[in-house]
Amino acid sequence: MTLHVFSCLFALIFLVNTLVSLPSRRLEQVESLLSFKNEFLLSCNKSVTNSWNRDAIAFDGVLFDKDTGGVTELKLRGACLSGTLDANSSLFKLYQLRYLDLSRNNISSSLPAEFGRLADLEFLDLHQNRFTGELPSSMSNLGLANTTVLTKLHFLDISNNKFQGKVSEWLWNLPSLTATNLSHNSFDSFPNISPTVKYLVASNNNFTGEIPLSLCNPRNLLVLELSNNSLTGAVPRCLSESITVLNLRRNNLTSLPDTFSNSSLKMLDVGHNQISGKLPRSLEHCKGLEFVDVESNRVDDTFPFWLKDLPNLTALILGSNRFYGPIYSPQYPLTFSKLRIIDISRNMFDGSLPPNYFVNWSAAISSSSRLEYGRPRVKLLNTYGSIDFSGNRFGGEIPESIGLLKSLLALNLSNNGFTGHIPSSLANLTELESLDISRNQLSGTIPQELGKLSFLSYINMSFNKLTGEIPQGTQFQTQNESAFEGNIDLCGFPLQKSCSMANVSSHASKPMHNLNSRKPLLLFSFLIVFHFVLSFSFPLSTSL
Ligand SMILES: *[C@@H]1O[C@H](CO)[C@@H](O)[C@H](O)[C@H]1NC(C)=O
Ligand SMILES: *[C@@H]1O[C@H](CO)[C@@H](O)[C@H](O)[C@H]1NC(C)=O
Ligand SMILES: *[C@@H]1O[C@H](CO)[C@@H](O)[C@H](O)[C@H]1NC(C)=O
Ligand SMILES: *[C@@H]1O[C@H](CO)[C@@H](O)[C@H](O)[C@H]1NC(C)=O
Ligand SMILES: *[C@@H]1O[C@H](CO)[C@@H](O)[C@H](O)[C@H]1NC(C)=O
Ligand SMILES: *[C@@H]1O[C@H](CO)[C@@H](O)[C@H](O)[C@H]1NC(C)=O
Ligand SMILES: *[C@@H]1O[C@H](CO)[C@@H](O)[C@H](O)[C@H]1NC(C)=O
Ligand SMILES: *[C@@H]1O[C@H](CO)[C@@H](O)[C@H](O)[C@H]1NC(C)=O
Ligand SMILES: *[C@@H]1O[C@H](CO)[C@@H](O)[C@H](O)[C@H]1NC(C)=O
Ligand SMILES: *[C@@H]1O[C@H](CO)[C@@H](O)[C@H](O)[C@H]1NC(C)=O
Ligand SMILES: *[C@@H]1O[C@H](CO)[C@@H](O)[C@H](O)[C@H]1NC(C)=O
Ligand SMILES: *[C@@H]1O[C@H](CO)[C@@H](O)[C@H](O)[C@H]1NC(C)=O
Repeated sequence: MTLHVFSCLFALIFLVNTLVSLPSRRLEQVESLLSFKNEFLLSCNKSVTNSWNRDAIAFDGVLFDKDTGGVTELKLRGACLSGTLDANSSLFKLYQLRYLDLSRNNISSSLPAEFGRLADLEFLDLHQNRFTGELPSSMSNLGLANTTVLTKLHFLDISNNKFQGKVSEWLWNLPSLTATNLSHNSFDSFPNISPTVKYLVASNNNFTGEIPLSLCNPRNLLVLELSNNSLTGAVPRCLSESITVLNLRRNNLTSLPDTFSNSSLKMLDVGHNQISGKLPRSLEHCKGLEFVDVESNRVDDTFPFWLKDLPNLTALILGSNRFYGPIYSPQYPLTFSKLRIIDISRNMFDGSLPPNYFVNWSAAISSSSRLEYGRPRVKLLNTYGSIDFSGNRFGGEIPESIGLLKSLLALNLSNNGFTGHIPSSLANLTELESLDISRNQLSGTIPQELGKLSFLSYINMSFNKLTGEIPQGTQFQTQNESAFEGNIDLCGFPLQKSCSMANVSSHASKPMHNLNSRKPLLLFSFLIVFHFVLSFSFPLSTSL
């Protein structure tokens, strides 16, 4: 009861306070807000602008300056605004705006040059709308010829719209711009970049030709993402010198510089290009490297034993190239101390692996601490281990020490020439979700202990020389028949062939037909998430 009275009192005090602070809102700014709202249709019933009216106590998403009463912040992300933003929009009367977020609405028009009137703007987020056409060739500056506009703007996100053509000159001349995201548009060329820019994300556009050398001039770039464009030619040398995150995935680039120096490079992703030659040895100088992805190129090299000295290397992805030779050498013992993901699939690696091959990796893949990177934040969500050696020419036995990698989620050794028995130490991989050892020369029986692996949702042991009874664990029983086909003499469910009378007692009661065959979805989505998440976030905390 007393509590109730107290909270009423509190609310009253709050109300009085709010009313007292009302005069700090300028009437003409309120009118501008209301007419701005009226320029749009609301495409949902719970827009943040619903609270806006002349007598409103609170204008959700709006911040007024305490002294001048002008609107300084407008946060209308996902406010269901549907319509066009015209040159005469009342938005441009909110000339004290410093922070403007109109992202995730349905605004379809070209970008009005009148943004140039918002001289105090520091933060502008227009991502995920339907803005179209080319950017204006210049920004309105209230008739003052040739003065630079938007001098304070340091964050600009116009990603995920339908902009096209050349990225305008004025954008690169913004004197304070440090972070910009232009991705998911159809831009096709860009002029000289402003020397202040540190974060440039321009993935998923239509950029063609060589990576412009103008990107080199400032040498301030920390993050460059140009993935999924149509860039060709060599990766410029300058990009090997100062950058932290370099993502050039899915282009048509043909070579990497071998001048990686004492740099801060943490992430190098040049997967899905047409890069040939050797993996640059100079990468070994980049002691901070955490992520290397050169998959689907034409790299022609031996295994990079020299990378083992990189203390923070977390993911090494070399799949679908022309790597060859052994991955074990007594002279260069591998001690990957942080490695969580290794994919060397579809190459021409060969040789055999000693039983203790994985002993020095166990520190990494068996620790299950989450990874979280500093700025630029590169977050590997729950990435425990994944090993993919498939599609090579390995022979000999599967190393017993595989059982030490306790957090391994996925193991793929398929399409090789592994011989001998399936190591029973696999039963120690209690987190394992996916096990593919198909298309090898493995013989003997499947260790019954594997039946206890409760997360194992994808199993493929087909096309080996296995014999005997398929383990009775649920995870085995929910596989398709194809998971075990092409072996010499396997028996028991899910195969048609039942085991000999001698064994019948062990599964006299027929297993339930829970044939909702689980697909390796979990793992698949995990790998997708991995690639997707391995991006960074802008350091928004520095805004305003
Ligand atoms: C977005 O705007 C277009 C017209 O510009 C309209 O046809 C469409 O229905 C709107 N979509 C939503 C989700 O409001
Ligand atoms: C929005 O509100 C109107 C009237 O109150 C109602 O008819 C309509 O169904 C609501 N739409 C949604 C999507 O909730
Ligand atoms: C703003 O300009 C558009 C055309 O560009 C016009 O249709 C609209 O009526 C104008 N609005 C006002 C308030 O003048
Ligand atoms: C604007 O500046 C450019 C160079 O910055 C100069 O060439 C041009 O003459 C200037 N124009 C006017 C109208 O001052
Ligand atoms: C951009 O590239 C895509 C795919 O290559 C193509 O479909 C689209 O038409 C291009 N857009 C422009 C504006 O050239
Ligand atoms: C790359 O771009 C194409 C065409 O623009 C698009 O269909 C595809 O989804 C993009 N890929 C990625 C990984 O973003
Ligand atoms: C790369 O080049 C090949 C032909 O050499 C072409 O088919 C492909 O579309 C190009 N890819 C990109 C992303 O430009
Ligand atoms: C690498 O850079 C650090 C500081 O940036 C410097 O102290 C160190 O001497 C450099 N090492 C080499 C080999 O250039
Ligand atoms: C490796 O990572 C740790 C922890 O994030 C960091 O303190 C250390 O400086 C990194 N080492 C190098 C060589 O960058
Ligand atoms: C493990 O590391 C130790 C110390 O570096 C090394 O002597 C040993 O050969 C390594 N073992 C394997 C199998 O690489
Ligand atoms: C499995 O792990 C246990 C303890 O972690 C160990 O004692 C045992 O030897 C391991 N089994 C195999 C086959 O590696
Ligand atoms: C850039 O924009 C795209 C599309 O809106 C988004 O997916 C991505 O996360 C953004 N990147 C950064 C670093 O903000």
